[in-house]
Amino acid sequence: MLMSQTIVVVGSLNMDFVVQVDKLPLPGETLRGRSFDMLPGGKGANQACAVGRLGGRCRMVGRVGADSFGHQLRANLQTAGVDVSGVLTTANDATGVAFIFVERGGQNEIVIAPGANGYLRPNDVEAALAGVAGGYLLLQLESPLETVEAAAALGRHIGMKTVLDPAPARPLGPNLLRQVDVLTPNESEALQLLGGRAGQVSLSQAEEICRQLMSLGPHSVILKLGDKGAWLANGRQSLHFPARAVEAVDTTAAGDTFNGALAVALAEGKPIHEAIGFANLAASLSVTRAGAQTSIPVRDEVECLLN
Ligand code: RIB
Repeated sequence: MLMSQTIVVVGSLNMDFVVQVDKLPLPGETLRGRSFDMLPGGKGANQACAVGRLGGRCRMVGRVGADSFGHQLRANLQTAGVDVSGVLTTANDATGVAFIFVERGGQNEIVIAPGANGYLRPNDVEAALAGVAGGYLLLQLESPLETVEAAAALGRHIGMKTVLDPAPARPLGPNLLRQVDVLTPNESEALQLLGGRAGQVSLSQAEEICRQLMSLGPHSVILKLGDKGAWLANGRQSLHFPARAVEAVDTTAAGDTFNGALAVALAEGKPIHEAIGFANLAASLSVTRAGAQTSIPVRDEVECLLN
């Protein structure tokens, strides 16, 4: 039996309203979509679901409203094997929702209405982390920044390693970034963290972007490059990990799947290069399927590719 450390995810739970479109709408444009689905999502919950499906020991910390979406989101995580005792109910607001357009080829546009996610407080995290020592803490930026900062500080204090997905992008100060063990931006988030505009990063720019991100304080950076794979920089190594070539149908939650898988492998004691290989494979499977949590593979599927 594989011994693995606990993984705690502090973050958002959303119900995703997903419309498949032939192309993404321009400002002022009305388009006819191809299909509509309501699917479980939220960057935090997606990462927790990935950890659970891939065989990690996971606790989710977040907030939902006292409504049916909240029940469904909790239940979906429980089915994935996630401990949801840290998912609290907020009486003052509805469960968070996300509106997602997915175009042919898999690219998407996402707008979230945070609802109950906006009520997650530092003391909720403190209560959920009572008794935890060591392991991995997964953070994203769909929760109040004050709570993310408090979680990172507390995580460090109790010996956890912190993986921060700086999504959605927003300016971050050195206080938070210095507490981060692994920073995992995608291309746009990396450029925005460095004060630029959202955009793409070529492979020839990746090393320099990682170097600049490292100077902001994290101990290591894994830059997620979509179908170009990932770039690791940690002061000792600067390395490219190519992605497995697949036909993408929906890239929603590919980054979340990557982070959940990365944490599972690290929590099992795998070295970083193996963990990134495992995460790349899990993410490559997720983009071949529609939806956020509906697209996340189980362990056997990734193992099959590894073997
Ligand atoms: O990363 C994808 C997620 O972003 C979606 O599931 C949506 O809920 C938003 O949080």
